[in-house]
Amino acid sequence: MRIDIITVEPELIRSPFENSMMKRAIEKKLAEVHFHNLREYGLGNYRQVDDYQFGGGAGMVLMIQPIAKCIEKLQLERQYDEIIYMTPDAKTLNQATANSLSLKKNIIILTGHYKGVDQRVRDKYITKEISIGDYVLTGGELAAAVLCDAVIRLIPGVLGDETSALTDSFQDNLLSPPVYTRPSEYDNMKVPDILLSGNFPKIEEWRADKAYERTKKIRPDLLDES
Ligand code: ADE
Repeated sequence: MRIDIITVEPELIRSPFENSMMKRAIEKKLAEVHFHNLREYGLGNYRQVDDYQFGGGAGMVLMIQPIAKCIEKLQLERQYDEIIYMTPDAKTLNQATANSLSLKKNIIILTGHYKGVDQRVRDKYITKEISIGDYVLTGGELAAAVLCDAVIRLIPGVLGDETSALTDSFQDNLLSPPVYTRPSEYDNMKVPDILLSGNFPKIEEWRADKAYERTKKIRPDLLDES
């Protein structure tokens, strides 16, 4: 999978890709990530990328021309399955979206900044808009890193244990059950006997019950969705 990220702050977003799971995925050539500094496509000597909004109001807006130039250059090189815009005024990212994006070959992610992008960018180029939650970040860079993490870990071969992504919270609209490791007793708190029993069918049953219990208590809305 190839991901092209268009941003005015490439340095802000680089680090998550240089560590841990995303670094490994890139090293194993299961994911390829390229950063494009929007400023290199900016207008005039000052490489202008933003301007005041028509109609007045605080905050600058990213202009269409630099974004168009960058996207169209990439589109000449290959076909993209999705051109995604990270923005708080969109549907919230969930596991189903991450699953479906992990099957794509080439995607572009555009990150907004300031007040966002000129609406005409969204109308002309964007095929999918994604928010990572009902709060406003300074820019879409961290949101793009979150999206990439959620997607890249699902690519077969990225996680050491193939089954672990499948048993994540949300894969079946349930939160994960509690997990324990050694010691089996700490400060009078004991690991549930069933987990030490070696009875794997019963353990699976216990986990399913706990997952349901936890979901019902913390995120009952997920049960309505399934
Ligand atoms: N840009 C700013 N806030 C955001 C959010 N919550 N999700 C995605 N992109 C954003």
